[in-house]
Amino acid sequence: MKVTISVIKADIGGYPGHETVHPDVVKVVREYLAEAKKKGMLIDFFVGWCGDDINLIMTHAKGVDNKEIHKLAWDAFVAGTVVAKKLKLYGAGQDLLKDAFSGNVRGMGPGVAELEFEERGSEPVLVFMMDKTDPGAFNLPVYRMFADPFNTPGLVIDPAMAGGFSFEVFDTIEGRKITFKTPEEMYAMLAFVGSRSRYVIKRVFPGPNNKVSEKEAICCVSTDKLSQVAGTYVGKDDPVGIVRCQSGLPSVGEALEPFSFPHLVSGWMRGSHQGPLMPCSMEQAIPTRLDGPPRVVCLGFQLANGTLVGPVDIFKDVSYDYTRAKANKVAEYMRRHGPFEPHRLPEEDLEYTNLPKLQERFKSRFSKI
Ligand code: 13P
Ligand code: 13P
Ligand code: MG
Ligand code: MG
Repeated sequence: MKVTISVIKADIGGYPGHETVHPDVVKVVREYLAEAKKKGMLIDFFVGWCGDDINLIMTHAKGVDNKEIHKLAWDAFVAGTVVAKKLKLYGAGQDLLKDAFSGNVRGMGPGVAELEFEERGSEPVLVFMMDKTDPGAFNLPVYRMFADPFNTPGLVIDPAMAGGFSFEVFDTIEGRKITFKTPEEMYAMLAFVGSRSRYVIKRVFPGPNNKVSEKEAICCVSTDKLSQVAGTYVGKDDPVGIVRCQSGLPSVGEALEPFSFPHLVSGWMRGSHQGPLMPCSMEQAIPTRLDGPPRVVCLGFQLANGTLVGPVDIFKDVSYDYTRAKANKVAEYMRRHGPFEPHRLPEEDLEYTNLPKLQERFKSRFSKI
């Protein structure tokens, strides 16, 4: 059977400040989706969170970009916002940037990642949820899981993976896209996706001779950029990603392995700093040190005819203690730079800044060298 997994996320209010979600808001959102499931619109759902972002993980048979599903997510967030406003949560309704729903949540504030596929005999799926960062934070781990044999032994020892993978990459500045085939075009692709503030990996497809069709996306990341929608800083994008695993695709362990390295990502305080991405459980995803450091939570499911069996809160595992300790060390090191680069983002990547105003104010005081 064909099943769609839609992960739609929004920050509709944090407490205190941008730290975490309030249980009363989550409850209302969950009840909203439960009602839709009862009516048969959803096969199943799980409401997860990471920091101050609520993530709706939904399965259904309506395909990607479905108006009904997007409207359901929007309405659930609107219902949650009513409670968030009553509690005067910080940034209540923060990511709902438009007044009324207009057919698709894309371009309205919430982030979206969706995959439609023929459910296999066994279908392990991982949902990654990040806070205090942007979609470029997925570039390094997604590259490594699907293209780096030092991360993914299957690329070397599983014949079904020998054909490599294709990466759809979005240029978020020019609004264009390109597909790179690995391993053949690996170096060229890295030249682009290394610039993670501009080029972001959107989807990954199997290469030839995989057990999964070359046409079926197996990984999808939400690439929605809030500041581009709003035209100003309203909060970080805090992206989500979905990865299907095993049998010609990276195993669960291979898809998780890149997160054992707390790589530097953009976001953190006021969305304007570089910091290490710390893998943690939902419970631990309360970014408080200078509103950080940035977090990633992973929920693991098995699909059974669209039913979400799970989740397993993956990064609860003690084997990520070492990564968390390392992330804390790196966070401490980066913090010591205060307002200096590379802790603070370079001027062109700053979303929250009074630099243009300062430049205007001091313009007349500059003289030619
Ligand atoms: P099992 O032998 O436990 O099924 O594991 C196979 C595998 O893919 C491990 O990554
Ligand atoms: P969020 O994007 O998670 O709302 O965080 C915003 C912020 O400015 C944190 O300092
Ligand atoms: Mg927030
Ligand atoms: Mg957030």
